[in-house]
Amino acid sequence: MKKETSIATAIGKIILIGEHAVVYGQPALAIPFPETKIKTIINREKGPVSLECYFYKGLFSKAPDRLLGLTTIVREIVSSFNEKLKDFNITIESSILPERGMGSSAAVAVATVKALYDFFNRPLTEEDLFKWSNMSEKIVHGNPSGIDTAIIIGEKPLYYVKGKPFIPFPFELDAYLVVADTGELGETQAAVSAVKKMVDSNPHKVKPLIRQLGNLTRAAMDSIEKGDIVRLGMIMNNAHAILDELGVSNEKLNYFVSVATKNGALGAKLTGGGRGGCMIALAASKEEAEFICKKLILSGAENTWISNMGVDRK
Ligand code: MEV
Repeated sequence: MKKETSIATAIGKIILIGEHAVVYGQPALAIPFPETKIKTIINREKGPVSLECYFYKGLFSKAPDRLLGLTTIVREIVSSFNEKLKDFNITIESSILPERGMGSSAAVAVATVKALYDFFNRPLTEEDLFKWSNMSEKIVHGNPSGIDTAIIIGEKPLYYVKGKPFIPFPFELDAYLVVADTGELGETQAAVSAVKKMVDSNPHKVKPLIRQLGNLTRAAMDSIEKGDIVRLGMIMNNAHAILDELGVSNEKLNYFVSVATKNGALGAKLTGGGRGGCMIALAASKEEAEFICKKLILSGAENTWISNMGVDRK
């Protein structure tokens, strides 16, 4: 029987460490971030397909280029089903603003692929979910490592190496993660291609930086396994300094990192693509995390969240 409505959801992610280096085969650690929630709703409705989301409301066929990742996979999926692109509408609701380094573009893709498969009554394998969602990411970000798609599909802390099977990395750290939104749109695509330009034009200087980031990710894993939050904080600071050197931080992110560390954070860094978006900071207790959030809001953060590091995350 034909479905009248299909609804699917996906949550966001936070990269703890390893962003950008992960594009070059180095490992990265990511955790799910349920505060970011994307919901795709597909309703049967006679006529041409329409689309409603943060950036656009109108005919699907007239959607702007910035939605090309999404519109391409919708077209391709429907055509792979031998169905017609008509008689339904798509609404995408998001609990946070896009381009914050929280994986909203991958989450939009994941939720929409799931909703389309359900709407057309097709069984969805994890491979197909990854393939379609990452196809959208390739269009949006140019050269994605696949980490955003992998963590958003898996919804579990993840140790990720590009092209390798996903390795869940469960951990329980007695610490809290502060996430602060700079309020500035991140620029993942521009940041990823700027790093590529640096790698190509100055490999002797830049490749060691990328390797250093990989080593920091391995050291972060070791610290997490040993429950050494002080060392983990220092590792985060070092990673931020390298990301800054790679040109993917900006003034506000650097300012937030210094506000967090001056106010008790064990360490802090940008998260995700950078050049805007969010900063993360490690705090030893909930009270300290709340204090850091207060200071960050006073310093201009648009929003802050506190995430426990697995203590009661399942
Ligand atoms: C974006 O969330 C993470 C980057 O490393 C890009 C990628 O891995 O695709 C900046």
